[in-house]
Parts: sequence; structure tokens; C-alpha cells
Amino acid sequence: MDRYIIVGGHRLEGDVRVDGSKNSVLPVLAATIINGKESVIHNVPELKDVDSLIGLLRTIGCKCLFENNTLIVKSNNSLDTLIPEKPVREMRSSIILMGAMLARNGKVKISYPGGCEIGPRPIDIHLFGLRKMGTKIIEAHGYISCECDKLRGVEINLDYPSVGATENIMLAATTAEGVTIIQNAAKEPEIVDLQNFLNGMGARITGAGTSTVKIEGVKEFRDVEHTVIPDRIVAGTLMSAAAITGGNVVLNNVITDHLKSVSSKLSETGCIITEYQNSLQIMCNRKPKAAEVIKTLPYPGFATDMQAQMMAVMTIAKGTSIFIETVFESRYKHVEELMKMGASIKVDGRTAIVRGVKKLTGAEVRAGDLRGGAALVLAGLAAEGTTVVDNVKLHIDRGYDRLENKLIKLGADIHRV
Ligand code: UD1
Repeated sequence: MDRYIIVGGHRLEGDVRVDGSKNSVLPVLAATIINGKESVIHNVPELKDVDSLIGLLRTIGCKCLFENNTLIVKSNNSLDTLIPEKPVREMRSSIILMGAMLARNGKVKISYPGGCEIGPRPIDIHLFGLRKMGTKIIEAHGYISCECDKLRGVEINLDYPSVGATENIMLAATTAEGVTIIQNAAKEPEIVDLQNFLNGMGARITGAGTSTVKIEGVKEFRDVEHTVIPDRIVAGTLMSAAAITGGNVVLNNVITDHLKSVSSKLSETGCIITEYQNSLQIMCNRKPKAAEVIKTLPYPGFATDMQAQMMAVMTIAKGTSIFIETVFESRYKHVEELMKMGASIKVDGRTAIVRGVKKLTGAEVRAGDLRGGAALVLAGLAAEGTTVVDNVKLHIDRGYDRLENKLIKLGADIHRV
């Protein structure tokens, strides 16, 4: 079991490059199934979740070559429509293969993904959309079996702008007969990246990034080459690392528009943020002021994936902050661990009240989920003495490509054992 040993108190300074987005690359990988041809994808981050999905693609019959952050997938073989159970249980987002397999083969059997560290993760909205397009779905013995003679384009109104459901429906609709219109679609930048990738292989999709996405089904696809967008959550995490250590950091390879909600909150705390074409500088010369309210919302609101990292910053801020988690039910696992380090936090349901303390102190803590784990690393960077963060491989490596190397480059004292 890998752990980080962090000696806190070093101000982060320097520049660092942000990797490709995990949440973009996963649906893009699923989409490589559809064209039955070659997909070349650049800026692919080396993450545990990416490895797991590549493993799954290989198991069902795709050929994959992954070198120097470029992944080549050939999906010209006939593919197995049974998605093996273990990897799906390990990585919930493999449910995205459902839409892609339906588009390619009209059939898929996948195990039920179940809940995860951040609470129950229902997929009713995914299934509602796919059923509306004509898929027969049987849920039995822990499996979801989907089959359709022909997917047909229809209008689908989502009860909630679910990212995964929007992506699954977009994928399925690429080969449907007629036009599919998704209303109340998720507007996350990763949806736009998926649209660009699919259009690159010959799909006809418009509207991604707005609440109405229109997909005109097509029959012919071609080879595609694509570069994945930068990871806005990795960027936000590094910005928070600068804020919590009073640092001065330049992030390269970012899309500053995707970082508006984080930039705006960190500016409220007193950080000075300067945006350039593909980079951003964050300077935080004094102790942060508390941001009054941080409410997580679908994009372009404040991302739930940044809630824990922002909370780490607020633990040492001057004043009190209120967090309201509206996206996931139980996403405060990091709170108890932050309190072991001296943070003052009270949780009531979906609300957490964080009273800034003078300093955190190093302690032995355990990552309970991916972003919560990153928050503990941030806290360790600012804490007095040594912090040990457990469960690095299990959680933090799922979404950060060797986080310690980036932090070491910026002057942090952190190593993996
Ligand atoms: C994606 C991201 C995840 C991020 C989340 C919200 C990926 C791989 N993961 O997850 O990092 O935290 O968006 O920005 O892109 N819901 C239902 N029924 C459904 C689907 C969702 O009730 O069928 C609920 C969920 O339980 C949750 C909320 O909707 O409370 C948001 O989920 P969703 O947007 O679907 O998140 P994911 O796509 O799973």
C-alpha cells in the first residue's frame, strides 16, 4: 500500500504542466469502440482509471498501444458484448461502455456498478435515456442486459444534468436512426471534448456545452486523431496547493475558461490570479481569507470534484466558510481526517462549516476517496511537521498522474513509500 510522507511548511513556487483530463479521456476511450477503425489520442494521462479502461477495451477485443501519453486504439475486430464484472466493479465509470457498445453492436451486458466512496451512484437517468431510444433493458442478478434492433433518435429530457448519462446517450445516439435531442444535458467541458472526438470520427453532434445537445445518427465512420483537453480538476488542485502554502505558481497547459469558478473563489480568498493564453499564474502572499459560501453545482458552478481541496485551503483561512454539497450525498469523508490534523469543521447533512484555525499539524491520515485524498495532501503541505497520507494507490493515483512529482518540482517536501 503506497503512502505519501509530507513535511509541511514549504511555499510552492515555479511552473508545472497540467496533464490531460481524466473525465474527458474515459468517455473518449469508450467512444473508440464505435468507429471500428483507428483512433489516435494524445495528451492521455497515465492514471489507474485509464489503465483499467484500456484493460477492458483489450478484453473485449480492441488493440491498444499506449506510449508517451499517446494511445492508439484499433476497434476493427468483432467485439465481445459481455463486459467482465471485476473491472466494472473497480471502476464505476466503465458504465460509459454501455452507450458505446449499443452504438457499435446494438447489444451489451455489463455488471451493475453499485455505489462508491462518495455515496450511492444510481444510473437510472442513463437507463431512462437508452430505453427511450428503443433499448430493451433487463436488470437481473447484478447485471444489466441491453439489446435493441435499431436505436431511434428521440427527444430525451433529463431529470438532472448528469454528466455520465449525457455522455452515454450521446454515444448511443451516434448511430441511431434519426435525430436525438438531449434536453437539460450536462454542460461540462468534457462533454464538448467528447463531441469533438466523435465528430472527428464522422459523427454529427452539435450543442455540447449548452443544455441542448443534438445528435444526428450516421452509419459511416473514419479514423480519428484527437488531443484530450487539460484536466481542470488537477489544475484546480495545484491552484489550491499554491493557495494553502502562500505560493506563487504558474500552471501551463490549462484552459482558463474551465477554471473560472475555482479562480473566482480563490480570488475571494486573496490570491492574485493572472490568466494568459494557455497558462495561469496564481500568487498568494498572505494567509487566505475565508470564502463565505462554497456551493457545489453542475458546471459552470463550483465543481464537486474541487470541494475537498477548497475545504483544505479554508481550514487555515481567516474566518469561517460554509460548504454546501449539492451534487453527491456523502462527500465529506475527508472531514474527519482533516480534523485529525487540527481543522475545525462541523458537518450537518450536506453542509459543512469550516472555522479557519491558526495552523494544521502533521498527522497520519487515510485517503477515503480520490479528491478527498488530494485534499489531505494539500493539508499536509501546509501543516506543521510530518503528515502521512495512506491509500495513495487505491485513490489518489486514480486521478493524478504522479502528483508528488509535480509538487516536488514546485518545492514541496513529499515522497512516496
Ligand atoms: C462525473 C465525473 C465525476 C464528477 C461528477 C459530477 C466522470 C468520469 N466523473 O461523474 O468526477 O464528480 O460527474 O460533476 O466524468 N445521478 C442519478 N442518476 C443517474 C446519474 C446520476 O441520480 O442516472 C446523480 C448522482 O448520484 C449524483 C448526480 O446525479 O448525485 C451527479 O452525477 P453525474 O453527473 O452523473 O456524475 P458522473 O457522471 O457519475
